[in-house]
Amino acid sequence: MEKCNILGIGHFVPNKILTNEDLEKIVDTSDEWITTRTGIKQRHLVEKETCSDLAFKASLNALKDANLTPEDLTHILIATFTPDAYVPNASTVLQAKLGLKNIPCFDVNAACTGFLYALELARGICAIHEKAKVLVVASEILSSRMNFQDRTTCVLFGDAAGAIIVSRESSSNIKIKDVRLKADGTLGNLLTVIGGGSMHPPQLGKIIDEKYFVQMKGREVFKHAVRSMASICEEILESNNLSSKDINLFIPHQANIRIIEALAKKLDLSLDKVYINVQNYGNTSAASIPLALSEAYEKNKIRKGDKVLLVAFGGGFTWGASILEF
Ligand code: ACO
Repeated sequence: MEKCNILGIGHFVPNKILTNEDLEKIVDTSDEWITTRTGIKQRHLVEKETCSDLAFKASLNALKDANLTPEDLTHILIATFTPDAYVPNASTVLQAKLGLKNIPCFDVNAACTGFLYALELARGICAIHEKAKVLVVASEILSSRMNFQDRTTCVLFGDAAGAIIVSRESSSNIKIKDVRLKADGTLGNLLTVIGGGSMHPPQLGKIIDEKYFVQMKGREVFKHAVRSMASICEEILESNNLSSKDINLFIPHQANIRIIEALAKKLDLSLDKVYINVQNYGNTSAASIPLALSEAYEKNKIRKGDKVLLVAFGGGFTWGASILEF
């Protein structure tokens, strides 16, 4: 198939910042613990905005970058596990906010790997529909699923959105060279948000419990994250006849600086080739990759001809990688 291109890139983060010092006043933690264990110094959190609000603003930024209007779009995909509501789905809410009707809207839930899963679906749509212009957004309100009494998780996450527009049209030079995806459902219990689903349905009058929030076996997740992301990067590089030396910028999922460093070491990539912004935003789940990609692009960290390697890992477990060429 003819390669797909990215026509525009954008992101949006809410204004409110919660620093590690702010968290010290909420739970029994310290800036020192959070910084040394995760690299995170602050995160952005919404006050009233929803998943579709952040998605809307990121989408407008991507459309502007592509020199397109909402009416040019043919499909909308949102990667999220924190939608505005179960029904209607977040992508139809976004469609209405963009002033559109009658184009298909999909929500994709693959936790932190959601953006790469949505990217692969966008490539599929473009393979079927020659003229497709697919808006791919990842938007997460992690703060809506954070238990601020649980210090082992509430220090890790933040809210954000990132968006791109995917098409077979070649008005842009950003090519999606490849996408590779994997999943292992036997390890799903290591990272969960169970409350409200059919396994743990809400009951009238029953108090919300900890199952409604992100629960994670951190050490286990850490181990699998490094191993799985390293192996999928090696696989996608090899099948494209590339080595890590050919990569100009590496954009890994921004969950933890120690995971990023361990991964870079395994791939023999020097840290000056790695884009890192986890210190400013924490782990924004599916939004993490497009947020980092958009920031790197905006800051001119990517030059013409550069090959960019993306990799993510998240609940499910799911993981994936992609190679872009600018
Ligand atoms: N402040 C202070 N102490 C804390 C905190 C905190 N915020 N959180 C935990 N501790 C304590 C624990 O209670 C424990 O104390 P104990 O030894 O007295 O029992 C001690 O610190 C060590 O806890 P561990 O959980 O073993 O700490 P670890 O070094 O593994 O770091 C962390 C925890 C940061 C969560 C790490 O395991 C990690 O990053 N895991 C990967 C998580 C991840 O990347 N998830 C993202 C992928 S999936 C997704 O994005 C949704």
